Amino acid sequence: MSTDDLRKVCVIGASGKLGRYMVQHALDRGYQVVGVCRERSVPKLAAFADRITILPGPTNDREVIREAVAGCDGVLTVLVPWGVHQYSSGTAQAVLDFAEPHARLVFSCGWHVARDEHDRYSWAFKTTVRMVTPLARLVRAVDIDDQVEAGRRIFASDRRWTLVRGSDLEEGESQGLPVWRRHVGDPALASNMTRRVDFALFMVEALTDDTLVHEAPAIVGRLSPSALAHTGEASGAAENAS
Ligand SMILES: NC(=O)c1ccc[n+]([C@@H]2O[C@H](COP(=O)([O-])OP(=O)(O)OC[C@H]3O[C@@H](n4cnc5c(N)ncnc54)[C@H](OP(=O)(O)O)[C@@H]3O)[C@@H](O)[C@H]2O)c1
Repeated sequence: MSTDDLRKVCVIGASGKLGRYMVQHALDRGYQVVGVCRERSVPKLAAFADRITILPGPTNDREVIREAVAGCDGVLTVLVPWGVHQYSSGTAQAVLDFAEPHARLVFSCGWHVARDEHDRYSWAFKTTVRMVTPLARLVRAVDIDDQVEAGRRIFASDRRWTLVRGSDLEEGESQGLPVWRRHVGDPALASNMTRRVDFALFMVEALTDDTLVHEAPAIVGRLSPSALAHTGEASGAAENAS
């Protein structure tokens, strides 16, 4: 799908940090934007209020999602790792069920969602996830397993999806489109750091990059040391090699 074919985009989780960057990138491209966020978070979108349509509601509410994605050529979904009510998997399922048949669907998550057996995780990474998952569920803060379940449902779908897997994130000026690799564990990703604004840029660019359909790119900052070391001059999404 080219930028010209894409007119209307839905951002689900628009009020978060990633969401607001995605709204800005989408507006910069001239897309019409529909943003979904929790009712209490609507004020976080005040800066965009006169330029986007805001639909308040829980993002795992199927009726809210059905209404939000109607007529949209692209849907950008923040898979939220917070809470223990199947929030991520519920959101993903509703988007897969109700988005327009032609729509490009781009979802966000972290590296911990494995695409297949070729993803390789360090001992330290695996230990952290193993320790954090039950503890977080215990305090009802984070449900990492539910993002994994959302990933499973996305991978099984024949919709035109991309699941973008983010490294650790930081704030800061854009460095340009992140470098991506098909599998976690690739040496180019070792720095494990991406600017959040560039994660959002990758998500929005993916809407019009058909080479990313049915891919789960693991991303890292274009100017991070590992990206620079393994790509010569980090040349962005086209640099995928593994
Ligand atoms: N943080 C990282 O280092 C990191 C690393 C890798 C990948 N990622 C991925 O990047 C994406 C964005 O993550 P982020 O950390 O940058 O956060 P973020 O953009 O601030 O997004 C957090 C989202 O979670 C929602 N949220 C927060 N608490 C909630 C609750 N109790 N119930 C329901 N929704 C809730 C927020 O909505 P409200 O605005 O309504 O609060 C917002 O939409 C996620 O898909 C995450 O998996 C993050």
